[in-house]
Amino acid sequence: MIRPASSVIRYTRFFRLAKVRRVLDYGAGLLRNALYLTDEGFQVFAADVPGQVKALAAHPEAGRLAGLLTVGGLAQAGLGVDLVVCTFVFNILATRNLKKQYLENVVANLRRGGYLLIEVNSRYPDTVFCGSMLRHYYSCDGSARSYSHDELDRQLASFGFERLCHYYSGHALAAVYRLRA
Ligand SMILES: C[S@@+](CC[C@H](N)C(=O)[O-])C[C@H]1O[C@@H](n2cnc3c(N)ncnc32)[C@H](O)[C@@H]1O
Repeated sequence: MIRPASSVIRYTRFFRLAKVRRVLDYGAGLLRNALYLTDEGFQVFAADVPGQVKALAAHPEAGRLAGLLTVGGLAQAGLGVDLVVCTFVFNILATRNLKKQYLENVVANLRRGGYLLIEVNSRYPDTVFCGSMLRHYYSCDGSARSYSHDELDRQLASFGFERLCHYYSGHALAAVYRLRA
């Protein structure tokens, strides 16, 4: 099995202690997190864009998941999971609108008081790159491809999320948020 994201390994014990049972891996990729969490005893749904879900349907271990969904079906799915996992997805969504749609789908499928684990490419809070040659990467218009924890806080607050903890490691930032009850 491919090694799961380091944030998933790091917070698995916390999520177990927090009585998390049902998980949505949103933007599941090759299922590295979804299968790891399944092995850890969680009931895991995986969601991705239609082309990826089609490929995953043929994955030899996809049958071990609680469900495989396309992103288009999430608004109506009402999964009521305890945790949504989002590793290296939010930072690849190219427009403000895609990010909004993504967060709306998270909220639509997460129970009140549930958790969001998000890992993204990082930048440090005191770096100002807007208007520089790096603006395609360090965008300030809501379509950023890397984040500081303050910037993530600002994007997530209006959807009802409060940050519990975060850490930086190499070029990544991981944070755990809780949806207000
Ligand atoms: C860099 S991969 C990360 C995969 C996985 N989370 C991981 O850490 O291994 C990004 C994933 O996001 C998916 N993706 C792209 N656009 C998406 C969208 N609008 N909503 C959900 N997932 C999306 C891609 O198909 C891909 O599987």
